Amino acid sequence: MNAEDSIKVGIAGLGTVGSGTVNVIRRNAREISSRIGRPLQIAHIGARRDNPACDTSDIRVSRDIFAVANDPEIDILVELIGGTDTARELVLTAIHNGKHIVTANKALIAEHGNEIFHAAHDKGVDVAFEAAVAGGIPILKALGEGLAANHINWVAGIINGTGNFILTEMREKGREFEDVLREAQALGYAEADPAFDVNGTDAAHKLTILASIAFGIPLQFSKVYTEGIERITPEDVLAAEQLGYRIKHLGIAKDTGRGIELRVHPTLIPRDVLLASVNGVMNAVMVDGDAVGPTLYYGAGAGDEPTGSAVVADIIELGRELTADHDERVPYLGFRADAMAATPVLPIEDVFCSFYIRLHVQDRTGVLADITRILTEHSISIEAMFQKDVGEDELVPIVMLTHQVSERDLNDALEKISALPAVVEPDTMRIRVEMLDA
Ligand code: HSE
Repeated sequence: MNAEDSIKVGIAGLGTVGSGTVNVIRRNAREISSRIGRPLQIAHIGARRDNPACDTSDIRVSRDIFAVANDPEIDILVELIGGTDTARELVLTAIHNGKHIVTANKALIAEHGNEIFHAAHDKGVDVAFEAAVAGGIPILKALGEGLAANHINWVAGIINGTGNFILTEMREKGREFEDVLREAQALGYAEADPAFDVNGTDAAHKLTILASIAFGIPLQFSKVYTEGIERITPEDVLAAEQLGYRIKHLGIAKDTGRGIELRVHPTLIPRDVLLASVNGVMNAVMVDGDAVGPTLYYGAGAGDEPTGSAVVADIIELGRELTADHDERVPYLGFRADAMAATPVLPIEDVFCSFYIRLHVQDRTGVLADITRILTEHSISIEAMFQKDVGEDELVPIVMLTHQVSERDLNDALEKISALPAVVEPDTMRIRVEMLDA
């Protein structure tokens, strides 16, 4: 290909991100071609239906997405259909046809990335997926390239915009969970199956990718411990505030020296850390490196043009690299495939954390003494505790913050506490606490 030839892009999927991608390429065509050094042309779109949010009148459109993957004219296939089965087949077909791949599909990379990179390596093509994690924030590039000098200690982030939007609206406006979720769906933030946003699956996909790039380990989605935000109540949101904390749904990947922690769960974080002020659909990722110390990356985590921004950046990068020797490019996960570490991912029982615990008990003499005795027997020390005044015959809420304890010991203690006759089960709540200090 000579420098005057345009780079021919094929886009599969014309939903929220697809239309944002088309609009960004059209609007910024001049700057984009100046950055690549040759024009960029959307030569073929595969979509089941048109999207009035973007103009495709001068672009070839097929109803069969595989027509794009098999189009000999296309240099780069942009996969924006979501899901795993058809997306995997589409991407492998395009790779087989010698096309480079750009995808925003976190589920695809987290679950099938090892296979896809292998196939891409064999064909000498690239796979870029910046848009798969934290929407418009260029966190993968920051982690894999900008911080490449560091040993990464930990990564912690708000990496699902829909979930953060729900928690923010619940806290600030006292809105109902379901009502906010419907709004997030209408705004195009939520996944096709919004359960993925709420139950932590989407964040776990993104954390899988972050951890591989941070620690040089293979993608291991099945090893992420995942808890959703479904059980968080307005009562917990308020109690956390009273203790000086805020509840955020975090993805955490930590190198403990004994192994890697990979976990997604609601987390109490101090109200005065920057992450606590990340509200609405915004995402933010903190990365702590041994040389650089703590760093923070903030921006829109979902939406048409923010995600389109990351997709187009990947297209530009591949456009620049199209003439470079394949082995000289940045590896798919930042580390070379033959130099991946075998560091184990720790089971959640081996993770140490502080905990917020909230129980409801019957107002009987000695209940509190029984609870503290059980905690003491498990060497769990309490940092703060409060008991709310309620009317006669009402259940009494007790809120506690523990010091660091292993998940295994906490589970044992909570099982015994829950068995006390005065403790009301099954509504006992426990939320992990992270101070996020370097
Ligand atoms: N459903 C995702 C979110 C979209 O809300 O963050 C971006 O990955």
